Amino acid sequence: MKKHPLYWIIEYQGKCIGTAKLYSVDELNRRAGYAIGIFDKKYWEKGLGTEVTQLVLKYAFEKLNLHRIDLKVLSFNHRAIACYEKCGFVKEGIEREGSLIGGEWCSDIIFSILEQEYHTSRLGHKAS
Ligand SMILES: CC(C)(COP(=O)(O)OP(=O)(O)OC[C@H]1O[C@@H](n2cnc3c(N)ncnc32)[C@H](O)[C@@H]1OP(=O)(O)O)[C@@H](O)C(=O)NCCC(=O)NCCS
Repeated sequence: MKKHPLYWIIEYQGKCIGTAKLYSVDELNRRAGYAIGIFDKKYWEKGLGTEVTQLVLKYAFEKLNLHRIDLKVLSFNHRAIACYEKCGFVKEGIEREGSLIGGEWCSDIIFSILEQEYHTSRLGHKAS
C-alpha cells in the first residue's frame, strides 16, 4: 500500500490474522513506533507475534537503518510484554494512568530497542 508502506498484513495458513506496523517514522532522528495485533485469540501464544516482531525489527534496523523503535503496552498485557521482551525490547518507563478502560485508570509501559542492542542480540546479523 503506497499510503502505508510500513503496514503489514499477518498471513497465516492463507488467512489474514492480524497486522503489524511501523508508524511515526522520524527520518531525522531515525526512530519509529511499533504496533502489532493478532485479531483472533486462537492464534495467540503460538510464537507468531514474536516471529512477526523479529521480522519487523530486522527490516527496521537492517533495511531502514533506524536507530530506535519504541512502543507502549498496557501494564496488564503480560502476553504482549513477554513477546516484546523476547524480541529484545527494554522497559524504559511507565506512563501512569494514561488510559481509562472500563472505568479503571490503567498505566502503559514504554519499551524500546536501540540499533546497537539489536545488532548485538542473537537476532542481529552484525553481532560480533
Ligand atoms: C501481543 C501479541 C502480538 C503477542 O503475540 P503472540 O503470538 O500471542 O505471542 P507469542 O506466542 O510470540 O509470545 C507470547 C509469550 O507470552 C507468554 N505469556 C502468555 N501469557 C502470559 C502471562 N500471563 N504472563 C507472562 N507471560 C505470558 C507466552 O508464554 C509466550 O512466551 P514463551 O513463548 O516464552 O512461552 C498477540 O497476543 C496479540 O495480538 N494480542 C492482542 C492484541 C495486543 O495485545 N496487541 C499488543 C498491544 S501493545
